Amino acid sequence: MSIPFVDLHAQYRALKDEIDEAIARTIANSSFVRGHDVEAFEAEYSQLMEAKHTVSCANGTDALYIAMKALGIKAGDEVITTAQSWISTSETIGQHGAKPVFVDIDPTTSTIDVSRIAEKITSRTVGIIPVHLYGQMADMPAVMEIAQRHNLWVIEDCAQAHLATINGKKAGQFGNIATWSFYPGKNLGAMGDAGAITTDDPSLARHMACFARHGGLVKGDHEMEGINSRLDGLQAAILRVKLPHLVSWTTQRRAVAKRYDIMMADIAHIKTPTEVSGREHVYHLYVIESENRDEMAEVLKANGVPTVVNYKRALPFLPAYAHLGHRPEEFPVAFRLQNQILSLPIFAELTEQQQDIVVSAVRDAVA
Ligand SMILES: Cc1ncc(COP(=O)(O)O)c(C=O)c1O
Repeated sequence: MSIPFVDLHAQYRALKDEIDEAIARTIANSSFVRGHDVEAFEAEYSQLMEAKHTVSCANGTDALYIAMKALGIKAGDEVITTAQSWISTSETIGQHGAKPVFVDIDPTTSTIDVSRIAEKITSRTVGIIPVHLYGQMADMPAVMEIAQRHNLWVIEDCAQAHLATINGKKAGQFGNIATWSFYPGKNLGAMGDAGAITTDDPSLARHMACFARHGGLVKGDHEMEGINSRLDGLQAAILRVKLPHLVSWTTQRRAVAKRYDIMMADIAHIKTPTEVSGREHVYHLYVIESENRDEMAEVLKANGVPTVVNYKRALPFLPAYAHLGHRPEEFPVAFRLQNQILSLPIFAELTEQQQDIVVSAVRDAVA
């Protein structure tokens, strides 16, 4: 029996009638770009995330680009971010002509090491983008304290962290703006690209909505130059079917993760994820660490268990940032972990039988 890394079809099967109806309704109404479902989704998403405003957009990468634009980023600015993330977090900084300034990661959570942020602040620093990596939040109280002290904005990259919390406060409720991805494999996934931005600030929300829609909220009234980054009506209709299930899917993901934790607690030479006290991890990814990562991945593959490395090269060491001339010693934790991390299959519908197969393959690999 081979196991999928993520079983998107399982989710579709469970909601097939409602999703098919939502797609058929959108086609019948021809509401392909924006429309009723987009507006309804924005309102429903704001409610669940406890944000005053949701601005939907085409994907989580555009969400970051649009958020920074609204905060007034300009060429020559510096933005502090984490050394380990998907490249969207840093490439959107560069696309504004600004410079990503990377900070090493905390070895326990793989999120930005808040004790190393202050030393990276210069007169050109304008903001900080922490990433709630793998589904566990960065230390946001500490990030906000530094930001307030230095008068910097904060964008929370919540692409992997729908419903994650710190001391009961949800991801997205700390920074000036939060950005979200609904890429199909995300904890809340569309059937194509989709994204959103949340904020409590009405003027930022309006600015972002305008910018994402060719600079105007009313067709033909362009208040500024913008871009075309809108949520499809079809994706909004599908997301509205899925959104009411996000809480229970998150509970299921957490239960799968806890079962992995218990089953693998006695396996020597691997480290399972640490959930920091007070934080609720939503396990977008279940990432273990092993010094024999590549051999382990081979054994798992031979046993029908797919794995992924998220991500195989930390951002400072990507060819895209060769011009910054970063050295391994500047980011020792990210440099070490890029060769040790391995993501195991996780999704809400993962069965106990499937999990047993994954764990026995991990045992085989270390035997
Ligand atoms: C941390 C992080 N930021 C940003 C993004 C970008 O989202 P999208 O793929 O929707 O553009 C992703 C997902 O791919 C992500 O994992």
